[in-house]
Amino acid sequence: MSVQYDLEGQKKAYEIWAKFYDKVYVRFLADGQKKAAAAAAACGPDILEVGVGTGLVLRYYPSTSRVVGVDLSEHMLAKAREKVVAQGLTQVRGLSVMDACNLGLPDAAFDAVTVPFVITLVPNPEAALSEMRRVLKPGGEIIVASKMGAEDGLLMKVEAALAPVVKTVGWSTDFKVSRLAAWAATTPDMSVVEVVSIFPAPFFKMIRIKRAG
Ligand SMILES: C[S@@+](CC[C@H](N)C(=O)[O-])C[C@H]1O[C@@H](n2cnc3c(N)ncnc32)[C@H](O)[C@@H]1O
Repeated sequence: MSVQYDLEGQKKAYEIWAKFYDKVYVRFLADGQKKAAAAAAACGPDILEVGVGTGLVLRYYPSTSRVVGVDLSEHMLAKAREKVVAQGLTQVRGLSVMDACNLGLPDAAFDAVTVPFVITLVPNPEAALSEMRRVLKPGGEIIVASKMGAEDGLLMKVEAALAPVVKTVGWSTDFKVSRLAAWAATTPDMSVVEVVSIFPAPFFKMIRIKRAG
């Protein structure tokens, strides 16, 4: 299966999801979305959200931020554009179709890159993280929020048993924090500085990965 095929599959899936995504996820993902937006805002005003979707996170960035959102799906972005107008989100400076692995944005342009509930969907997450590092200013942070599989113990066994069920609703159990840590450990100037549980704990986590200043 080629990467191109996966991207087209994602676009088709999210063309359908765009119609009812907010109804399903507006409450369920709110804790992680708020925490990711706050962590990004603490880094500085210039924020990139990769996989901005229908724009559910946009209202959580302070009005002093300058936020750019990108997404693979034009249909999801259309919903985000409606929110920017309806909610008067002046902190949003641009919304564009873009692949996480090929960001058409300048080097060292952002204080923070947020990736809420996206990284497990990207066929090559390490390539996407390297693109995010490229557009990050020295001292900036990549902030990932996602379902993260347990590394070991009983929880890992329970998740392995439930994996087929979880997969039917689009969540993976095999993406783990250790994969992000391994990328950071082998990438110049990058280190994981915090891993915190978000709702629903212990299944979902927010991870801050910092670029040395
Ligand atoms: C679960 S939604 C999350 C949306 C938003 N961040 C939120 O928290 O509500 C995942 C989004 O990631 C986007 N996506 C998936 N693969 C992508 C890629 N390779 N590049 C950019 N966006 C991608 C999808 O189109 C979808 O809008």
